[in-house]
Amino acid sequence: MSAAGNFHVAIIMDGNGRWAQRRGMPRSAGHVQGAKMVRRVVEASARAGIRTLTLYAFSADNWGRPSPEVDSLLRLLQCYLASETRRCLRNSVRINVIGRRDRLPASLVRAIEHSERLTAHCTRMRLRIAVDYSSKHSILEAARRASASGLSAQSFESLLAEVDHSAVESGPVDLLIRTGGEQRLSDFLLWDCAYAELYFTDVLWPDFGEAGLHAALEDFAGRQRRFGKVLAETA
Ligand code: FPP
Repeated sequence: MSAAGNFHVAIIMDGNGRWAQRRGMPRSAGHVQGAKMVRRVVEASARAGIRTLTLYAFSADNWGRPSPEVDSLLRLLQCYLASETRRCLRNSVRINVIGRRDRLPASLVRAIEHSERLTAHCTRMRLRIAVDYSSKHSILEAARRASASGLSAQSFESLLAEVDHSAVESGPVDLLIRTGGEQRLSDFLLWDCAYAELYFTDVLWPDFGEAGLHAALEDFAGRQRRFGKVLAETA
């Protein structure tokens, strides 16, 4: 599906709060439903032949939400890792959590390391979950390390991967999906999305489903990717 043979889809899973509020439920109930949808979309992505799936689960700016919501999101992530690691193992899905770890609860960091260790040999699909993630922070930190060590621009991406705790360099994003009706990147994978095709849908994340994924993939299949060149040169 992608020129590099590593079809990379990234998703900004927006709309959990509104999904819950429309049903008279607390926002945290929307996140619980959102986590269920994560499981379904991970399985559908592996079936669709996606090689790398990066999900935006908790941004560095999300620390600014009310602390009960922050706590419930972090707990949900830990539960997800506890319940889904075995399933990922069975489906040969490698888990990798990207983003900062120094501000996360120690129990969550241990859960992350455990899931990453257990699935390190899996090859069917790479599932990257962005937690306490800020693209601007990662780029600045990689630049700081590069200037300290005098590295070449070519090595910058490996430094960026190191800053992000990315197990392997993920390659550029081919398709960026955002649910929930907003049309912005929200400090997500700014470097990696340089030539990503952008797909926005009004569907709220808990309603996205396999059908939502297929609609996005179908839309992507109709795009002409020129990478700044003209068509003859890209053929
Ligand atoms: C944005 O919706 C969503 C988030 C900030 C969190 C995303 C988290 C999940 C989908 C569940 C946990 C993730 C995993 C990987 C288990 P919002 O709350 O901003 O929605 P709103 O725009 O309707 O308020």
